[in-house]
Amino acid sequence: MSFAKLDALMARGAEFLGSRYAIMAGAMTWVSERNLVSAISNAGGFGVIACGAMEPERLSAEIAATKALTDRPFGVNLITMHPKLAELIAVCAEHRVGHVVLAGGLPPGGAIDAIKAAGAKLMCFAPALALAKKLVRSGADALVIEGSEAGGHIGPVSTSVLAQEILPEMAAQLPIFVAGGIGRGSAVAAYLEMGAAGVQLGTRFVCATESVAHPNFKRAFIRASARDAVASVQVDARLPVIPVRALRNAGTDAFTAKQREMVGHLDAGSVELAEAQRQIEHYWAGALRRAVVDGDVEHGSLMAGQSVGMVTREEPAAAIIEGLVGEAAAALAERRE
Ligand SMILES: Cc1cc2nc3c(=O)[nH]c(=O)nc-3n(C[C@H](O)[C@H](O)[C@H](O)COP(=O)(O)O)c2cc1C
Repeated sequence: MSFAKLDALMARGAEFLGSRYAIMAGAMTWVSERNLVSAISNAGGFGVIACGAMEPERLSAEIAATKALTDRPFGVNLITMHPKLAELIAVCAEHRVGHVVLAGGLPPGGAIDAIKAAGAKLMCFAPALALAKKLVRSGADALVIEGSEAGGHIGPVSTSVLAQEILPEMAAQLPIFVAGGIGRGSAVAAYLEMGAAGVQLGTRFVCATESVAHPNFKRAFIRASARDAVASVQVDARLPVIPVRALRNAGTDAFTAKQREMVGHLDAGSVELAEAQRQIEHYWAGALRRAVVDGDVEHGSLMAGQSVGMVTREEPAAAIIEGLVGEAAAALAERRE
């Protein structure tokens, strides 16, 4: 099969990333560490280390260990709310990380300047057109637009709508990577044809052989179908819930019950609003680690996107990437000239 059409559509994204394919494996806290990241990059994709809540020393060690496993480019994903963001950026600069992805809200100006001063390319998440424009003005070199089909923290708008709104307006200005709900190469091809420079997938890579996710976590993914990956439910306007898409389990049901309990306390005046909000905000603290690392799939957080239904077995990262690329090329070959 000819890969010429696919190569042409991926050329801009692949050049930006420095990888064979314009396929990013989105950072997943506790999952995207040295083993998965290096496997993805070695297979021609672009791996991204998830810093999550890591301390700077730990991130430094993770970057060094990843470099020992691959000489291909990879990125580092930092959460803007991290209290030591500036130090984490300095760690990336020390290691000459080529691409820094900022997640979790609008990046502070100092962070953007520091990343760019170190010579790294800056990638940001754009959850809406207005924010995409603002991020470009602030200095983002590329954007990730991630729809609500995705696993983990999500915005309210679906990938297909974000792609239609943002790609025609912005794709000429800078490379845009589409994320959320991509499970097969046919979708990769479609977003490239709509103007995306590349794609980002998370859920499909969780069950890579090289992923260190606990066997229970992987088994839950292999068993689940799209409808099991649900967005967290908010019960009462006084108790805001950050939307997260995860597989439904005893933990998600207990979270809804906990919200109802706190609403009862609020109505009865037996708890302060701030305290109730704190309890809801901290409810899931450590829960992703419990699921990914300890294998507690009942009470931990099983963050997963709707593409989880297309995860059917454990297989090497290279096989997943080859599968996506082959499907994308096949889809393009079927198009009429
Ligand atoms: C288990 C899990 C953990 C994630 N952790 C992060 C994270 O730490 N930072 C981040 O920017 N995105 C995170 N994401 C989102 C992914 O990077 C990626 O954008 C998303 O999975 C793409 O959508 P998909 O799951 O439909 O492929 C996470 C996703 C999953 C499934």
